[in-house]
Amino acid sequence: MMKINNLINKMTLEEKAALCTGASPWTTTPVEHLGIPEITVSDGPHGVRRVANVNDFVAGSLPATCFPTASCMASTWDVDLIHAMGQALAEECIALKVDVILGPGANMKRTPLGGRNFEYYSEDPYLAGQMAASFINGVQSKGIGTSLKHFAANNQEFQRLTISSEIDERTLREIYLPAFETAVKNSKPWTVMCAYNKLNGTYCSENHRLLVDILKDEWGFEGFIFSDWGAVHDRVASMKGGIDLEMPGPRERRVKAVVEAVRSGVLDESVLDESVRRILGIVFKAAETTKDGSFDTAMHHALARRIAAEGMVLLKNNRILPLKDQQHIAVIGLAAKEAHFQGGGSSHINPTQVDNPFKELQKLAGDTELTYAEGYPAGTTFDQSLIDAAVKNARSADVTLLYLALPDSKESEGYDRADLDLTPQQVALIKAVTAVQPMTVVILNNGAPVVMSEWIDGTAAILEGWMMGQAGGGAIADVLYGKVNPSGRLAETFPLKLVDTPAHINFPGGNGEVRYGEGIFIGYRYYDAKEIPVQFSFGYGMSYTTFTYKNPKVSAASFKDVDGLTVSVDVTNTGKVAGKEVVQVYVHDHKSRLVRPPKELKGFAKVELQPGETKTVTLALDFRAFAYYHPAYKQWITEDGEFDVLIGASVNDIRCTLTVTLQSTQELPCILNRESTLRDWMEDPRGRRVFEPLFQQIVAPMQAAFGGGQDGGGAVGMDSMGFLTDMPLLDILHFQKNALPMAPEDQVDGLLAQVSQIK
Ligand code: BGC
Repeated sequence: MMKINNLINKMTLEEKAALCTGASPWTTTPVEHLGIPEITVSDGPHGVRRVANVNDFVAGSLPATCFPTASCMASTWDVDLIHAMGQALAEECIALKVDVILGPGANMKRTPLGGRNFEYYSEDPYLAGQMAASFINGVQSKGIGTSLKHFAANNQEFQRLTISSEIDERTLREIYLPAFETAVKNSKPWTVMCAYNKLNGTYCSENHRLLVDILKDEWGFEGFIFSDWGAVHDRVASMKGGIDLEMPGPRERRVKAVVEAVRSGVLDESVLDESVRRILGIVFKAAETTKDGSFDTAMHHALARRIAAEGMVLLKNNRILPLKDQQHIAVIGLAAKEAHFQGGGSSHINPTQVDNPFKELQKLAGDTELTYAEGYPAGTTFDQSLIDAAVKNARSADVTLLYLALPDSKESEGYDRADLDLTPQQVALIKAVTAVQPMTVVILNNGAPVVMSEWIDGTAAILEGWMMGQAGGGAIADVLYGKVNPSGRLAETFPLKLVDTPAHINFPGGNGEVRYGEGIFIGYRYYDAKEIPVQFSFGYGMSYTTFTYKNPKVSAASFKDVDGLTVSVDVTNTGKVAGKEVVQVYVHDHKSRLVRPPKELKGFAKVELQPGETKTVTLALDFRAFAYYHPAYKQWITEDGEFDVLIGASVNDIRCTLTVTLQSTQELPCILNRESTLRDWMEDPRGRRVFEPLFQQIVAPMQAAFGGGQDGGGAVGMDSMGFLTDMPLLDILHFQKNALPMAPEDQVDGLLAQVSQIK
């Protein structure tokens, strides 16, 4: 700290301004005479995309392990595995001379159409937050930095550099910020990357409230904030907004703008100094890790295979898998010979090696005869002859394996998906093949859900293989042959059709803005609340064994919010092979003043069990597990009352329910005002105390005048109490003003004054 302050004192204004803009697309500006080195950053997030020459944007990246992308990672629900992957990435950074890797991405999957969904974890903020934190802890445990991105509300590619995400405060706090919050608080990322888009009309790169008030001050983020590459529009405004380092560089004019702004008094030099302090803190931290040597490519490839196998989700299985003793397997689909294992854009890795799915299958197939047909061409063109050849191949086999990958044109950074469909050729291929061969397994490679209702019934099994990383070809073979018992669970819902999806009528927006009209109801929160059937629900995935849940317990039937709860359950492997189960805990609030989703994920654990083995899974639920964000109180609040703690194998497969009673310990400020309704007054403990004596005097005569009770009727055909409850007290008093000693406004103001006296 002392050292950094001394350096800041020694730096010229020009040197300080220069430090706050990159020297190249991937490096910061060194100040040699003061011994301030540069740092090098590289994408991210599922591999190290280190360009050989830092002056190149994209060309010539050095070989590195391409791990599975975030959709697959999250589907492992295994925080330890993600930690291990983080460590492996750090080792590659050390060998490739990279100080900070640009990841993880912690944005929510608002709609399955999001072009970059493959780089993001989940539709659930709790799961995404756990994954991001674990990734960061893994990388940073080896002295390499991370960049948590893209902060915030970067959920689509349409107009991605300019669109304004229009989000109400509660939705922001409950859905779009918590994964970042968890990661910042639990794992202290060295850097955070701000998003391209605007949030409620202000560029994230100039959003003081987001970057300074929330991220730096409220959450205590100590590192520095990058702009996304090109996200700065006005350097001075962005510096005031909280962007410490603008990328990419060099950008001479930006440096000059900062110097001039300080000289003319437009920018306070202390703001610049604060950014310099933050950047230098990381620059010197990075220098503590010597960058050199090489990494173990074989070991990392093996780790990538393990993660891919654990993240793949077995969606359907009519007892055809695992494969065993077939004489002839027909392998169909281009993706069997050309692995589709990553997405397009800045995360694109130059892999150290790539598993060929067909060859990997051959290695495990023993004496089984494997025949191959391409089935579909690259891209989206249609070629019936390939389908005809595939059908011929499939007909004579015992089992057909259909390897299908979404083409790059249907999924990438930079553009959203137009639909959730496979290509017309792929759909026709599945239909034609399954018509002659009921024993057909579909293996999918994609970064986000596809719809299946048109073809699922004909298939015998479906394996969601995701963008599975460079070792995914081997991982598919491992799962198909039961070398690995599948244990991936969906981190996002697979809808039946696009029109069912929560953001459907509010996506992708236009005229410069996208309205998040579904609010807090994204993903399963929406389907659950609307009782919309889905193809596969959040948290779902099959295994080659079965599990039972018994003996659910909570630490207390009645508890204080600040104490939280401990939940436990005994899980038994009741099948014949070892396997892993993902135990999920959801919370349901019986009653609350603001609407809440029916279920929210608040804890999970992955356990490995031998056949017959039982383990007790214990999970802690804290204050936040029961709280919601109240925009009027501007804080997370709890309310007294009953909650269900739901333990299950997916959001739609709840195995045990325990009801508990929460006592809130919060002393909330009074938010009653002149607009508050009768209900507000009666629900607020202080308001009720003050207003109750007047209640009989004011409300009862009105009720009498209206007549009518709970079943309606009376002079105007209504339940008069129901009618009055949601009227502002002031308006009710206006009706009764003759019975009041003073004007209704003065009466309400008097009550408000009395309320404010109560401690
Ligand atoms: C992407 C970031 C990436 C950066 C550098 C941007 O276009 O949005 O995710 O880290 O480029 O490649």
